[in-house]
Amino acid sequence: RILIVDFGSQVTQLIARRVRETGVYCEIHPFNRVTVDSIRAFDPKGVILSGGPASVTGTDTPRAPQGLFGMGLPVLGICYGQQTMMAQLGGKVEGSDHREFGRAYVEVSDACALFEGTWSPGAREQVWMSHGDRVTALAPGFRVVATSEGAPFAAVADDERGFYGVQFHPEVVHTPHGAQLLRTFVRTICGCSGDWTMASFRETEIAKIRAQVGSGRVICGLSGGVDSSVVAAIIHEAIGDQLTCVYVDHGLMRLGESEQVVRVFRDQFNINLVHVDASDLFLGLLAGKTDPEEKRKIIGKTFIDVFEAEARKIGGAEFLAQGTLYPDVIESVSFTGGPSVTIKSHHNVGGLPDRMNMKLVEPLRELFKDEVRALGRELGLPEEMVGRHPFPGPGLAIRIPGQEITREKLDILRKADAIYLEEIRNAGLYDVIWQAFAVLLPVRTVGVMGDGRTYDYALAIRAVTSTDGMTADYYHFDHDFLSRLSSRVINEVKGVNRVVYDITSKPPGTIEWE
Ligand code: XMP
Repeated sequence: RILIVDFGSQVTQLIARRVRETGVYCEIHPFNRVTVDSIRAFDPKGVILSGGPASVTGTDTPRAPQGLFGMGLPVLGICYGQQTMMAQLGGKVEGSDHREFGRAYVEVSDACALFEGTWSPGAREQVWMSHGDRVTALAPGFRVVATSEGAPFAAVADDERGFYGVQFHPEVVHTPHGAQLLRTFVRTICGCSGDWTMASFRETEIAKIRAQVGSGRVICGLSGGVDSSVVAAIIHEAIGDQLTCVYVDHGLMRLGESEQVVRVFRDQFNINLVHVDASDLFLGLLAGKTDPEEKRKIIGKTFIDVFEAEARKIGGAEFLAQGTLYPDVIESVSFTGGPSVTIKSHHNVGGLPDRMNMKLVEPLRELFKDEVRALGRELGLPEEMVGRHPFPGPGLAIRIPGQEITREKLDILRKADAIYLEEIRNAGLYDVIWQAFAVLLPVRTVGVMGDGRTYDYALAIRAVTSTDGMTADYYHFDHDFLSRLSSRVINEVKGVNRVVYDITSKPPGTIEWE
C-alpha cells in the first residue's frame, strides 16, 4: 500500500485514483495528521507528497515530517510536494516571475528509474503544470532528469534513496504519460504487487463484515441508487438473512424504479426486503407546499420517521448499513476555513445513525464512486443499476418547481422523463452524460394539436456533463435528437404541449432546478 500525504491540492484524489488503477491500495492522509509514528502504523511501501496551494517560501507553511526521509521508504514529491522535499533536504525553493499554468513541455535530460520504459533522454514530453514557486537549487544526492522553460528542475531524482520530485502533475490526464510514471513509482520503485482488484476487495470486505457483525442483525436503507444497492448486495453475500433491507417509497420515484428495486433485491438476490409504500403520507404532507427548502425538510424528516418506525418493527438489529464513500471520509485540508453559504440543504440519511443509536457497517468507506460501480458489477448487480445517473433524495418533488405537487403532475413528469431517458439510451449517450432529467414547469402554454387548441404544461429538459456534480456544463444535443424528443413527448404524454431545453451551466445555474 501507498500513503499519499495531502497538502491541499485540488487534484490529490486523482493521485489516489491513478495509484489504485494500477491495482495498488492507497490512502490520503492530511499533512497535519501525518507523523513518523502514523506512517509506521500505516506501513506503506512508499509515500507520495501531493501538491498544494501554500508556498514553501512562506513561514509556517506545511512540511512533511522530517523523519519520513530517514525511514528507508521511496518518496515521490509532486509540485508542492517536490518543493517541500527539496527544501527539507537542503535544496532551495524561490518564488519566480515565470509561472506556468496548464500545458507545458519538459525536455528529458537524463535517465532515471522513474522514467524507465516511459521517457528516454532527449525526448520532449507534454505535461501539466500549475506553479508559481520553483526549485532553484538541488538538495544533496539529487540530479536533474527533466527541465522545462519555467522549471529548470522539472524532475529530480535520487535513485539511490528512491526519492523523486516532479514539478508537473502526473495525476492529470493532460500529462499523457503521467499514469505510467505513477505506475512505475508504485509497482517498480516501491515494489507493490498490484493485486488490489475489486475481486480481492470483495473477498476481504466480506470477511471484515462477518467479523464485525458476528451473528448480529443489520438493517440497510435501500434507495435504488448505486451506493445503497452495492452495500446491500455485499452485506447480503457476507451474512445472508441476517440482513434486512428497507425501501421507503416516498411516491416521488421515477417510472418503474420501485418495481426494479423489488425485482432485483427480492426476486433475484433473495434479500429480505421491506417495501414501504409511504406515498400517501409523503404526498399528504407535501400538499400545498411550494418552497424548495420546505419540501426538502418535510421529505428528509418524514423519511427518517418512516425508516425508524420500520426498523423498530424489525427489532433486534444493532447494526445500520451505510453507503459512505471514500471522498466523504477523506479529511480535507482547508486553508481558508470560513463557512460557505448553503445553496441547498441536500438531505441524506446522515442523521439516522445518531438518532437510532446503532453501530455502522460501511463496506464502501475505502472506495471511490467508480470503484463502487466496479464492485457492483463484480457482485452481479444489473448494469442499469450500477451505471445509474445520480438521483436526488427528494426525488421528483424538486423537479416540479415552484408549484404544488400532485399525483397528476407526478404522472405526467414520470412519463415524459422515461421517454427522455429512453431516447438518451437509444442514442448511446447515457454514459456520456452525468445526469439527465425532465422538469415539469409551473406554466401552461397554448398550443394547437389536430384542429384543437391545447392549454397544457411546458416541460424543460436538462442534461449535464460533470465529474463531481460541483461544476457542470449543459450537454450539447444535436437538433435531430431534440426534434425527435419533442415530438415523442408531445405525442405520447397527455398534459404536455411544449418542450424547452435548459442551456445553463453550473455555476451560475445548479443542476436541479430547485
Ligand atoms: P445541484 O442541484 O446542487 O445538484 O447542482 C448537485 C447534485 O446533487 C443532487 N441533489 C441532491 N441530492 N438531495 C440529494 O440527495 C438533495 O436535496 C439534492 N439536491 C440536489 C443533484 O441531483 C446533483 O446530482
